[in-house]
Amino acid sequence: MSERLVVIGSQWGDEGKGKITDYFACKADMVVRYQGGNNAGHTVVFDGHKYSLQSIPSGIFNPKTVNVMANGMVVNPVSVIAELERLHSQGITDYQLYISDRAAMVMPWHSALDGAYEALKGGAQIGTTKKGIGPAYSDKYSRVGLRVGDLLEPEYFAERLQGALEEKNMELKMLGLETFDFDQVYAQYMDIASKIGHMICDTSALINKALESDAKVLFEGAQGMMLCIDHGTYPYVTSSTPSSASVPVGAGVSPKWIDNVLGVAKAYCTRVGEGPFPTELFDQRAIDIRERGHEYGTVTGRPRRVGWFDAVVARYVSRLAGIDNWALMLFDVLSGLDKVCICTGYELDGEIIDNPPATIARLARCKPVLIELDGWKEDISDVKEFDALPEAAKAYVRKIEEVTGVKVGIISVGADRSKTIIIDEKLKKF
Ligand code: GDP
Ligand code: IMO
Ligand code: MG
Repeated sequence: MSERLVVIGSQWGDEGKGKITDYFACKADMVVRYQGGNNAGHTVVFDGHKYSLQSIPSGIFNPKTVNVMANGMVVNPVSVIAELERLHSQGITDYQLYISDRAAMVMPWHSALDGAYEALKGGAQIGTTKKGIGPAYSDKYSRVGLRVGDLLEPEYFAERLQGALEEKNMELKMLGLETFDFDQVYAQYMDIASKIGHMICDTSALINKALESDAKVLFEGAQGMMLCIDHGTYPYVTSSTPSSASVPVGAGVSPKWIDNVLGVAKAYCTRVGEGPFPTELFDQRAIDIRERGHEYGTVTGRPRRVGWFDAVVARYVSRLAGIDNWALMLFDVLSGLDKVCICTGYELDGEIIDNPPATIARLARCKPVLIELDGWKEDISDVKEFDALPEAAKAYVRKIEEVTGVKVGIISVGADRSKTIIIDEKLKKF
């Protein structure tokens, strides 16, 4: 029987999913991305090199690992080709990559519309990555989207493109944007088909075959649970579900395979883009953490907002996504602070609440209930074992376990692959 591991973001994205996926990908037979698109920015660092991935799975560095971009993703083939070219220029030329024939495509008009709709929102912008993710998922659900597999059937692709352009050009015109010419787009996408056609297949069949054999299969989430379209801080969210619950639909596998979920969480919190963030810090401590953690967006370069670890969010996410262990990331960044805080509840209109409220009007009024713990001064970035951590750092980890009810299975003390402390026995064996 195969072994499975689902790696999901448990906060507002950028928790270090790329690092953790790459760590386990070295031992995995297959890595599957199941939602999101090139709005993601996953950083992988090893052997002195740093790589940034947007839509390509983080197992791409291991030639033996099969990488799959599954049906739940929105795939921008222009961006995939650019990413592959960038990897080639960095010496990554030996890899296995498959793209689902059922995945929705992000087309050039989607990014134009993303930008235009953001501009229309005036002061209420979501702060999207402007990669066209929302418009691409909207078209998928409105059933006017094009799918990756359509590229393999030129006549059918032409028909679908014609239909989509009739609708989209009308929308673009209304917004005062440039329209798209059928012949040009058709020629461009047939050229794309000649470049990536050999990677397009029924990836659900591929993944199920791996699951039914002795393979080790890793599912790599993008974004984070608080950006989930259903359970996140709506409308300041992305347009997919980053949860482990999204794996069966997004990868085309039975839910019975989902049994080992690793929640990736920073030892503090960050958020890029707009929307409420109850534990946000606005003083020098935020600046210190941002600089030490290099907290600037991988995709857009925007400075990330910084706040304390939020156990209300962690408990909520654990309940929704069935977290078995936390991977506690960027723990080294907290070194040097006199005091560190953890948010254990929210105060809303004079009452203590235990769950994030549904509307952002309420969430924005929530004040964090904080507990304060001693900080530690030591540089922990070379620590290899839990026991070698300073006592105050150990106490912080134990407190996170206590207030979230979930064990910390991994502690990350640096961006490099080697700076990973595995505590959980099952994870050690993966
Ligand atoms: P992802 O989107 O979840 O894959 O995360 P990102 O790659 O966008 O952001 C995480 C950032 O933190 C990247 O720059 C990583 O190289 C870096 N990083 C990951 N783990 C650690 C860690 O334990 N310590 C430090 N200092 N940096 C880390
Ligand atoms: P990774 O996988 C952090 C945020 C955007 C914006 C909102 C909607 O690297 O963790 P979208 O372009 O998806 O419509 O933007 O979601 N966002 C992310 N924030 N990390 C990400 O991905 C994100 N992907 C989207 O900043 O607030
Ligand atoms: Mg990221």
